[in-house]
Amino acid sequence: MNSFSRFIYLSAIVIVAFLFLTAHLALADDCVQKRMTPQAPGDLYKQTNPLEVTPEIIAAGEKLYIKGAKPLACIQCHGAKGEGDGKMAKGMKPNPRNFACKVMMQDIPDGQLFWVIKNGSKGTGMMGFKTLKDDQIWQVVSYIRQFSN
Ligand code: HEC
Repeated sequence: MNSFSRFIYLSAIVIVAFLFLTAHLALADDCVQKRMTPQAPGDLYKQTNPLEVTPEIIAAGEKLYIKGAKPLACIQCHGAKGEGDGKMAKGMKPNPRNFACKVMMQDIPDGQLFWVIKNGSKGTGMMGFKTLKDDQIWQVVSYIRQFSN
């Protein structure tokens, strides 16, 4: 191989690697949703989950997510894997949050999740869950976090 074809060869490798990388990054970002959700007020926004996240806490959160939460279990809209694709999600605008989207979820603080679960997001499918006690809401927060861990 002369030095010119070696140059072409190496350039091709660099270009392919670059394309692969950008495609990969674009895919990772693809899941980011436009959030219509209002921001939790004051210090609550930045509050971290006060519960120690144990397997028992996650299991309790899972129960509420799948079945227990009233008036409607989270799974109906947010889906079994938290991807925002539950049975009732079809045609819903805005879409239910995709909890499996790590790049998005890592920027949403625990307190924000808590507040929206409690109060809902007006004008969207996301209702407030006043029937859940604060402890139960933190259990659900612990559960939905593990979709992107
Ligand atoms: C009837 C459908 C539906 C049900 C049931 C539902 N959600 Fe949602 N949820 C939505 C929609 C739609 C959004 C997006 C709202 C928006 O962007 O403003 C959302 C958004 C959220 C958010 C996003 C908060 C943010 O600031 O980005 C969280 C957290 C959430 N839901 C948790 C839950 C939990 C936990 C349950 C069960 C206790 C639940 N949801 C039940 C439809 C639903």
